[in-house]
Amino acid sequence: MVGRARTLRDAARLVRRKVFVDEQGVPEDEVFDGADGRAVHVVAFTGEEPLATARCLELESRIWRVGQVAVLEPARGLGTGTLVMRAALKHVVSCGGVEIVLAAQSGAAEFYRRLGFAQCAPGDALESGVVLVPMSLTL
Ligand SMILES: CC(C)(COP(=O)(O)OP(=O)(O)OC[C@H]1O[C@@H](n2cnc3c(N)ncnc32)[C@H](O)[C@@H]1OP(=O)(O)O)[C@@H](O)C(=O)NCCC(=O)NCCS
Repeated sequence: MVGRARTLRDAARLVRRKVFVDEQGVPEDEVFDGADGRAVHVVAFTGEEPLATARCLELESRIWRVGQVAVLEPARGLGTGTLVMRAALKHVVSCGGVEIVLAAQSGAAEFYRRLGFAQCAPGDALESGVVLVPMSLTL
């Protein structure tokens, strides 16, 4: 499902809490950065349980950022991440977007490459040791 409804936002935040905060130890204020209210959320469900999410934010006219991409551990490697990313791309296209940028954790860069993204600037190492790779896709 794709939209701005509060219920969808809450479902997305549940997945992000489990993956980024509980599993990866990312600080809560980085995961819940205050931008959720103006974002479009993509959430994949199994029954009523959310299992994967991505977030779309329009940065400036026709340029979007997709981020906070997360799939619950048991659902990984089954194409669920690709499914939510394709839904995010479709949404951006439907809004007239011409470019998507994102910051990939270096371990996930290959996942985005397979979706057509390419590195567009040097990687940036965070204090935590995670390297973020800026990537973009022209639509
Ligand atoms: C990264 C993530 C979103 C991928 O979701 P997924 O559902 O496991 O990915 P898919 O099953 O759709 O994989 C699609 C393709 O990408 C590849 N791929 C997925 N994750 C990969 C990774 N970390 N490294 C290399 N390749 C990867 C898969 O092998 C698959 O290749 P194939 O098409 O040849 O089979 C998921 O592993 C995840 O949530 N990880 C933890 C959170 C995270 O790191 N998020 C990214 C923040 S930038």
